[in-house]
Amino acid sequence: MAIDFDFSRRHHHHPPAPPPPVALPADSTVVSARGLEPPVSLRRPSTQSSESLICLGRSGSRKSTLMLQSYVRAIAYEYRHVAPGRRRSFAIIDFKDDLAEGLLAGLAAEVPQALENTYFLNPFSRNAGIFPYNLVHADACGTPNDMRARQIAHLVGRASGTGVLAVALGGRQLELIAALFHAIFECDHPSRSLAWAADALASSDGIGRLASLCRSERARRTLLSLRLPPDVLASTGTRIRSVLSAYQDLENMMSAPTCVNWRNLTSPGTVTICALGKPIGGALELAEFHGNVLVRQCIEFLLASRTSPTNQPPVTVAIDECQMAASAIHDCLRRVIETGRSRNVQVHLICQGTRALRDASGALFESLLTNCAYTFCGRLSSSDATLFCREALGPSIPAAAANRIAGELISLPPGEFFFSEGDGKPRRFRGAPPDLNAWRQASVSRAGDIAAVRRRLCPQPLPPATHLWDVASGPSAMPPTSWVDPRTPRQPRSRLG
Ligand SMILES: Nc1ncnc2c1ncn2[C@@H]1O[C@H](COP(=O)(O)OP(=O)(O)O)[C@@H](O)[C@H]1O
Ligand SMILES: [Mg+2]
Repeated sequence: MAIDFDFSRRHHHHPPAPPPPVALPADSTVVSARGLEPPVSLRRPSTQSSESLICLGRSGSRKSTLMLQSYVRAIAYEYRHVAPGRRRSFAIIDFKDDLAEGLLAGLAAEVPQALENTYFLNPFSRNAGIFPYNLVHADACGTPNDMRARQIAHLVGRASGTGVLAVALGGRQLELIAALFHAIFECDHPSRSLAWAADALASSDGIGRLASLCRSERARRTLLSLRLPPDVLASTGTRIRSVLSAYQDLENMMSAPTCVNWRNLTSPGTVTICALGKPIGGALELAEFHGNVLVRQCIEFLLASRTSPTNQPPVTVAIDECQMAASAIHDCLRRVIETGRSRNVQVHLICQGTRALRDASGALFESLLTNCAYTFCGRLSSSDATLFCREALGPSIPAAAANRIAGELISLPPGEFFFSEGDGKPRRFRGAPPDLNAWRQASVSRAGDIAAVRRRLCPQPLPPATHLWDVASGPSAMPPTSWVDPRTPRQPRSRLG
């Protein structure tokens, strides 16, 4: 038998066949455009492997679009293939609103049944999106009241120390806010809310009135021992009001008889969307405050309520424009990145640049680079690209390759990203484009379902706030209010009510 040794001629006539499609596990979410082999895909998370993710790229590089597409596909997978009680849940915190709004449209188009289990929180909307948000009734997750008071005082101090509200609060003012919050946490009055801290500073007998309602001797003594000049008291009160009750709807939310409950918001198959992109008056620090409070509540609940290892279904907490949250709550983000896997909780952090993240918290940046299973990186400024290649890629790939990638990162077109998984070699790809027209149409044809989502947490108007000065001091007090959100568990009846 004659053997044809002329391989070159054979190859010339028969160009090499494309590689066969790679078989992905059925529960992987493909995020790359068609035609890329192997496709870029994200595994469904499990306690076996950490699936946290970081997505970087300057504004307009289509990070939000890439992640939005991945969430709609992943939610569609859960609703088509997973039993209701085992479905993954999503908490999506968006400091810009485009991901939040896009998700409603994407679900309406591709997984309309998921809208029934979707909650929408927007502390800045006039009616749709408002929710009971009385931090006194929030799940403490085992944190002692004085510590909770301190955490929130710290966030108030940060929020009122930047931007429109200007001038940082001093140490003594923070002490005062923490003492007021602690006293309110230790109150039994059914109408109490943290906004009472501003009320207490608004009149000469306010602090005494609050102290008389407080059941903790220690909290009362601390509060009464702080002696600050009247102008400091007044300016501190203004700061508290500007963050907690700047306008009527927020004041009513903060004084509601209950608080949203992350047990419900992260139950299997639930999609919870927090839209923080349009703070009243454009005050970004308000978005920062409320975003940080909500992210901390969510993560602390998930870490405290799940055993390690757990057999509960996965939860993904995604934060878009996460540089807004990175500096104030880096401790809790690090904790979930480092210890979330065995509790089946993972985070996705989406951020405009590497330097913003490192400057917000070096420790968080380090932790992300060592613990994230997936990294997406779109177009970056040249200094961000250099930092990314040195810190994120540097150890795993040769310097020359890192430099070449840095050069490419600076000029990536919108929608293209580098992807790296663990220590693997980074690959460049184009994100799968969502069918934005179909999504837009679905958001019109399912407008009723979407409106129901926006009103789900608060179907009735909230009662107006009760102020500290409306409340008789001492144990005679007000009757408990009858308004209870059907979806938040009833708070234990107060001892005084
Ligand atoms: N396939 C596409 N074709 C055209 N425009 C798109 C496409 N995908 C996204 N966009 C638009 O590009 C803009 C930037 O995308 P976005 O995901 O918001 O970027 P980033 O989050 O990185 O700032 C948005 O207005 C988005 O609607
Ligand atoms: Mg974005």
